[in-house]
Amino acid sequence: KAVEKAEHKHYMRKEIFEQPEALGRTLAQHLGQPGLTVALPAGTAGVFRDVDRLSITACGTAYLAGLVGRYWFERYAGLPVDIDIASEFRYRDVPFRAGNPAIFVSQSGETADTLASLEFARARGQRILSIVNVPTSTMARASEIVLPTVAGPEIGVASTKAFTCQLATLACLAIAAGRERGTLSAEAEAALVRGLANTPRAMTTALELEPAVRKIAHRVAAFRSALFIGRGTSYPLALEGALKLKEVSYIHAEGYAAGELKHGPIALIDKDFPVVVIAPGDASFEKTMSNMQEVIAREGRPILITDQKGASLAPQGRWETLVLPTMPAICAPLVFALPLQLLAYHAALALGTDVDQPRNLAKSVTVE
Ligand code: G6P
Repeated sequence: KAVEKAEHKHYMRKEIFEQPEALGRTLAQHLGQPGLTVALPAGTAGVFRDVDRLSITACGTAYLAGLVGRYWFERYAGLPVDIDIASEFRYRDVPFRAGNPAIFVSQSGETADTLASLEFARARGQRILSIVNVPTSTMARASEIVLPTVAGPEIGVASTKAFTCQLATLACLAIAAGRERGTLSAEAEAALVRGLANTPRAMTTALELEPAVRKIAHRVAAFRSALFIGRGTSYPLALEGALKLKEVSYIHAEGYAAGELKHGPIALIDKDFPVVVIAPGDASFEKTMSNMQEVIAREGRPILITDQKGASLAPQGRWETLVLPTMPAICAPLVFALPLQLLAYHAALALGTDVDQPRNLAKSVTVE
């Protein structure tokens, strides 16, 4: 085997634990010296300046990275984002304006639907940017601008380190777009970049939670279904947590925006329902806590994943709690992804599934 698992039992665990390093490499790729600005490839200059929309298209976990990216482009660059799943995007009648940027996100750079969407957007005059982990891939070669994630080879079918490196790259792009569009001051940019630069360290701390996550995973593995909820950038993360769990453990899992709980999934809540509540102590914390209260009131089993600030404010009645260090908002999705990945991994281990090669899944889907 070209890539060794070393002391890890599975590639998935190896790749989860590689994230502080992979993130460091990806950030080094996109941050300028002395590290307080984003420095993207020359071709990116001006690409976000006089545009009225940006589109992001991808599949699977890469699509969920794009969903987080939307919050950042809108918040930091005031740029409306149109995001879609690749297999839908090219069958919609999207009213394109020539010269708008279109971002495609893919670990492999070979996913058939994403590649076809890229060609579709290119034929309609969009400027093509791709965020890919394989620099020699078809998608990289077909793009005007390539933003590499430097995660290194990802072997486990369920994407882990590629996801967080995609997030880091999208964050850097959104910051660069904000600078270019005059919506971010130099000080604001420096603060965001400082936050990002701290991510690898926060990830290392998050990985130390593995024994606690393992214990929770064993409890979750006793149930047939699980729900993941979050608000803001924690919403796409809830989708990713659910996707990861179902991919590797085959436990039925759904991700929901916390505010949507009352519009459907609350009907399912009873004592047999673990609900992973992703809630850093940010501006939407109180609202998410009131959703968690609704779960508690119905004897559901909330597993709160929060930071120190959130832990000090959270109501009683939780089934389990995982506490991460308090960190800048821009880091939270990258760091909170790690306990979700470990939860899926250990649930799969508890259930004896084939973690690195889950049934029916492929690492790269090159058919439509
Ligand atoms: C497959 C993989 C997923 C991945 C998706 C998109 O479904 O199992 O882990 O997220 O394809 O792949 P890409 O290479 O385009 O990121």
